[in-house]
Amino acid sequence: MSFFNIRHIHKSFVSGEVEEQILKGINLSLQQGEMTALVGASGSGKSTLLTIAAGLQPASSGHILFKHNDLATLSQEQLRQIRAQEFGFVFQFAHLVPFLTVKEQLELMLEVADKKVDEKHISEILELVGMRHRQDAYPASLSGGEKQRVAIARAIIHEPTILFADEPTASLDSKRSSEIMQLLTTLTKTLQLTTLIVTHDEDMLHYVDKVVHMRDGQIME
Ligand SMILES: Nc1ncnc2c1ncn2[C@@H]1O[C@H](COP(=O)(O)OP(=O)(O)OP(=O)(O)O)[C@@H](O)[C@H]1O
Ligand SMILES: [Mg+2]
Repeated sequence: MSFFNIRHIHKSFVSGEVEEQILKGINLSLQQGEMTALVGASGSGKSTLLTIAAGLQPASSGHILFKHNDLATLSQEQLRQIRAQEFGFVFQFAHLVPFLTVKEQLELMLEVADKKVDEKHISEILELVGMRHRQDAYPASLSGGEKQRVAIARAIIHEPTILFADEPTASLDSKRSSEIMQLLTTLTKTLQLTTLIVTHDEDMLHYVDKVVHMRDGQIME
């Protein structure tokens, strides 16, 4: 069995009188050490699927199977723990805390994940993302690409097994986008992460192991 399994996921939202089906029976398996990309038109349900897989919102029905757990059956507290300890998140914008230095952003994440704050580990991770020389900098003095590198460091500092990234390069130029994709690929391999990434950018697809096309809430075979 795969490392992470999405089974028969349906999601509907009620808007006014009508119930809208956003996800219509999604099945997807993710492998350890692989990066899988979700692509598809705006509104096809990519972010909805990613947030359900990450336990950030419940599905209407179906299962998210991970390490002998079905996320759908867990309590809020169990889910919170899995998200904080097993999952890492990167989004379009870095969302760094403006009054914390680069190093302090990572310390905060370790505290959230209930892990020991280890200065050597923090240095190593910053080295991996090429930001060790800026460890005492505040976000305001970083470029967009540098901020995203720090966001990636923060997403992996607690040694998660799954990395979720929703359009991590959408606010970067093409050179910076390629660099960030290269970094995500390298990290997926070296740390044996299971990475699910949503992207709009066709140029980024050659960095990933598997491309999954979505249309109208379904996966195209
Ligand atoms: N909480 C919600 N309530 C109602 N409708 C929602 C909700 N979340 C998402 N939707 C709808 O579900 C559909 C899919 O949204 P989603 O954000 O998953 O698309 P997407 O593929 O990520 O699009 P984009 O590429 O623009 O980010 C959209 O029509 C959206 O309006
Ligand atoms: Mg989206």
